[in-house]
Amino acid sequence: MSGSSFTLNNGVQIPSVGFGVFQTPPDETVTAVQTALEVGYRHIDTAAAYGNERQVGEALRRSGIDRSEVFVETKIWISDYGYDETLHAFDKSAGKLGLDQVDLLILHQPLPDEFELTIGAYKALEKLLAAGAVRAIGVSNFMPEHLTRLLAETSVVPSVNQIEVHPYFRQSQLLALDAEHGILSQAWSPIGGITFYRDGSHGSTLQDPTIGRIAAAHGKTPAQVMLRWHIQ
Ligand SMILES: NC(=O)c1ccc[n+]([C@@H]2O[C@H](COP(=O)([O-])OP(=O)(O)OC[C@H]3O[C@@H](n4cnc5c(N)ncnc54)[C@H](OP(=O)(O)O)[C@@H]3O)[C@@H](O)[C@H]2O)c1
Repeated sequence: MSGSSFTLNNGVQIPSVGFGVFQTPPDETVTAVQTALEVGYRHIDTAAAYGNERQVGEALRRSGIDRSEVFVETKIWISDYGYDETLHAFDKSAGKLGLDQVDLLILHQPLPDEFELTIGAYKALEKLLAAGAVRAIGVSNFMPEHLTRLLAETSVVPSVNQIEVHPYFRQSQLLALDAEHGILSQAWSPIGGITFYRDGSHGSTLQDPTIGRIAAAHGKTPAQVMLRWHIQ
């Protein structure tokens, strides 16, 4: 799990596999993150909206692992968009995490109807980057039209665009656009989450017969096959 990494467009190294804490209840987060760190994860993905930044910070401190060895990513929620609001939101997140510097700070999603607030929020990220409060900045859930407008109105090209990508939702065009601009596409729900079908039923990539056959042929689990697919 640890070991391989990608180089972001500003030279910062990011571990290729991270541990996400979306929907991890705060009272389970310290144990979950500590365990993840013990088994080798060195990248934790949280968000202001997940309500567990304080517990992520506590787990980091309890782990005893040197701060420089763990890559911490968090996200600004849309209710805090706007330049001053986002600077304030970062102070709150950093305070909860107990960190002087966050490795990667991203906008959780665009606010298409009030895009000027999204731009203001991103300019706050640029300011935090220049001040050294964050090592890299980026966005999440940005579709081509949002990226195009952001690139036209701001100075720093995002280092990442965190988007839903898995074998049932490949997003080839968006991956190509990100790559064209030197933006690393970071997959959320990398092993598929829950897939809902038109008839109302739901399933999982983990039960997909093709992925299952590949996994059996290589002596791996379906989840491992999908993570390898992303990395390659
Ligand atoms: N930016 C955004 O808007 C956004 C949105 C969604 C997610 N995210 C980020 O992406 C992270 C991952 O999202 P996700 O939870 O939806 O991802 P996922 O790829 O769907 O993985 C979670 C699912 O995989 C199962 N699983 C986990 N490890 C496994 C293993 N080794 N073998 C087999 N199954 C395994 C889990 O089962 P159990 O439930 O049984 O553990 C769960 O069903 C989140 O925590 C968050 O950090 C970001």
